[in-house]
Amino acid sequence: MISPDPFPAAAPGPQDHTSVPGRGTGVKPCVAVLFGGVSSEHSISLITARGVLRAIDRDKWDVVPVGIARTGEWVLYGQEELEALLAEREITELPVGEQRASLPLGQRETELLVRQETARTTEVSRYRHVDVVLPLLHGPFGEDGTLQGLLELANVPYVGCGVTSSAIGMDKHFMKMAFESAGLEVGPYVVIRDRSWRTDKHAAMAEVAALGGPVFVKPARAGSSFGITRVDDPVDTTALEAAIETARGFDLKVVVEAGITGREIECAVLQGHGTDAPRTSMPGEIEVVDDHDFYDFEAKYVSEASAKLSCPADVPDDVIATIRERAAQAFEAIDGEGLCRADFFVTDEGRVIINEVNTMPGFTPISMYPRMWAASGLGYSELLDELITLALERPVGLR
Ligand SMILES: Nc1ncnc2c1ncn2[C@@H]1O[C@H](COP(=O)(O)OP(=O)(O)O)[C@@H](O)[C@H]1O
Ligand SMILES: [Mg+2]
Repeated sequence: MISPDPFPAAAPGPQDHTSVPGRGTGVKPCVAVLFGGVSSEHSISLITARGVLRAIDRDKWDVVPVGIARTGEWVLYGQEELEALLAEREITELPVGEQRASLPLGQRETELLVRQETARTTEVSRYRHVDVVLPLLHGPFGEDGTLQGLLELANVPYVGCGVTSSAIGMDKHFMKMAFESAGLEVGPYVVIRDRSWRTDKHAAMAEVAALGGPVFVKPARAGSSFGITRVDDPVDTTALEAAIETARGFDLKVVVEAGITGREIECAVLQGHGTDAPRTSMPGEIEVVDDHDFYDFEAKYVSEASAKLSCPADVPDDVIATIRERAAQAFEAIDGEGLCRADFFVTDEGRVIINEVNTMPGFTPISMYPRMWAASGLGYSELLDELITLALERPVGLR
């Protein structure tokens, strides 16, 4: 049975862009926190969600956690079930519970719906009014503009970058083009599209070999170092071909970059209010130790001793100033909204080369993005308040 009135009757109309829900009314705005997701970074998102759900200020925000299973189902969990799930450090995959959630499209007021299914019936009912969505999803179908498009259609404000900026920030090829046209220095690279690989892989590999070695072979759209291989000698076509095939397992578009020798320095960016310029944090440094070739998945998440994160980074003041300036430029180059983390290489000669931006960077209390803000005077739960407030101030739709 489908319940008779699953949707609110209000017709879509012009939006009131001037009022922020909950402000001054004594009613707390409802924040739907999305986590999990279908990308290979599902488990990383759970770690992020654990940190955020513990720290978010419940005196200010009414929080509704919504899990997205690896299959893409949106799931509501009971309070105890959720606590158990998130307390469990080893949990790497959300179970597909019985209560499925969804957002109706094109309504003036956004209500989360809950769908209860039995073998013979489907019951849909209103669950909660939602003022703003906080998507804590990393990687494709969460950080890449697809989810953002859904939220635009659902007429609900959300934290972070919009459709285009999320899509550009996910794609290591288009991201570089945006940076180059904004005048930011990027390293040499080659793009291998599916058609060129399948029609003439030797021509593609010859183009890569001309970069010299080492090279970094990457899926264009992934994250957390998934699918990335360092190839010391790209003239060795066996190793290069294997690396390209590995990257193609994640994305049929592959980006190969000349290896850059330098320090890895990152900077956190936060949108300004109104017409204010983007704000940038003190930069931080990542030093890969142990025997890792680069900041790979294991160094990021598995072995705590493999990477040392220091903030503020111990670099000269003029380098700090350049990094902060370029981080703000990178945010604007992709039309960023809300937040991003901009990652750079700083060479021995002092060149500042941008590697990438992440529009939903790792967000546990010990992740680089919140740590860089903490070192700049903005604590973890205040940072969440700030991001949600920015999202509530921002209208949905073309703006
Ligand atoms: N061109 C490069 N030169 C040197 N090291 C690189 C290069 N590209 C990537 N790396 C190393 O690989 C890591 C992951 O690459 P990155 O492009 O940041 O992918 P992801 O989006 O998965 O984080 C970087 O943090 C760095 O340690
Ligand atoms: Mg990276």
